[in-house]
Amino acid sequence: MAASVVESGEDAFRKIFKFYRRRNPPPDFSDVIDFSRSLPNDKIVPADLDPSALTDVEAAQVGLQPVRDWRAFGLRGYPGFIFISNPFLLGSQSFWVKQCLKTYPQKPNVCNLDMHMSPSETQDIWGKSVHGFRNSSGKREPKTLLERLRWVTLGYHYNWDTKTYSENHHTPFPTDLHSLSSKVTAACGFPGFIAEAGILNFYRSDSSLGIHVDESELDHSRPLLSFSFGQSAIFLLGGTHRQDPPTAMYMHSGDMMLMSGQSRLLYHAVPRILPAPEGHTASKMDPCSPISLLQDSPVMETVSEEDWRVCSRYIQSSRVNVTVRQVLGPGQSFPETPSPPQRTEAGQTGGYHEGDGDQDSGKRKRSSSCDSADAVET
Ligand code: OGA
Ligand code: MN
Repeated sequence: MAASVVESGEDAFRKIFKFYRRRNPPPDFSDVIDFSRSLPNDKIVPADLDPSALTDVEAAQVGLQPVRDWRAFGLRGYPGFIFISNPFLLGSQSFWVKQCLKTYPQKPNVCNLDMHMSPSETQDIWGKSVHGFRNSSGKREPKTLLERLRWVTLGYHYNWDTKTYSENHHTPFPTDLHSLSSKVTAACGFPGFIAEAGILNFYRSDSSLGIHVDESELDHSRPLLSFSFGQSAIFLLGGTHRQDPPTAMYMHSGDMMLMSGQSRLLYHAVPRILPAPEGHTASKMDPCSPISLLQDSPVMETVSEEDWRVCSRYIQSSRVNVTVRQVLGPGQSFPETPSPPQRTEAGQTGGYHEGDGDQDSGKRKRSSSCDSADAVET
């Protein structure tokens, strides 16, 4: 949608959010940037990476191509924003998809199901769900726990109600995801990044994520990193005001985004999930491929056929997004008393929002303590 359609003074972001979320008739997607097909032009600029930040072996250990081969872009008008078009080695996304679905939802990490289920009930989400992915009887079965999973938090667990992190709600951050994050951020010019908090959002084909700014972290000089797997999405990147019309871009499986500097605190949202185009789906690492022999990784392992059957079926209709945040600056600690809510917007309310994407309206369709699958449908 041309920015000119949006009259000055109105909430341009909300208008464009609604435009891309519309089902009937479907919107015109011709203005959506597709970095997987784009070359630098008047809007898209090549991003400056630091190929010396990690060796090819260090990159391969977390499933990444050599940094010199990454296709990384910036957007004119958005200093500090970096988009890396799927830099994963062929087949290596499968490990990260499996971690997101099987490993990270495990205790002591926190998920939406914990809000009204006992620890024993949410103890083994994967084990309690796989049967539903193996048998395709054609009958309508009750939703598995995996299908009801909406968010998982890691490290400093984000409190959706107070919109804060706190010292005393912390569990160890997964070392493999820290390793991936610190390597990607180093290549983007941010050495010494410490992955302290993570939010996994699980999207179905009809989910969306409302307009928000991520400002709960106490140090905004550290970048925010985002990884996407599975189905594609439209991501909207706006400005510091809701009146600023956002730029729309596709996020496909394997794509990464880094929001830093002046782009760290910009409004953003996901109005729509779209089927992954041909050639944009995660595939399994072949245990005999030269890639898996070459990397001999201390971080990654081959995904079993059995696990991959479940993962691939899940991501055929879903998208998983992982955002990784450094909460504290070097030497910084949490304030003595809990700080007031940090997110200016209504936050993500567990990541999802139904309605018009306007989180100022207070029209939250579900609270963080609800995991109703219906409540996230748009
Ligand atoms: C978030 C977020 C975007 C996405 O979790 O804060 O903005 O692409 N996610 O899902
Ligand atoms: Mn966000």
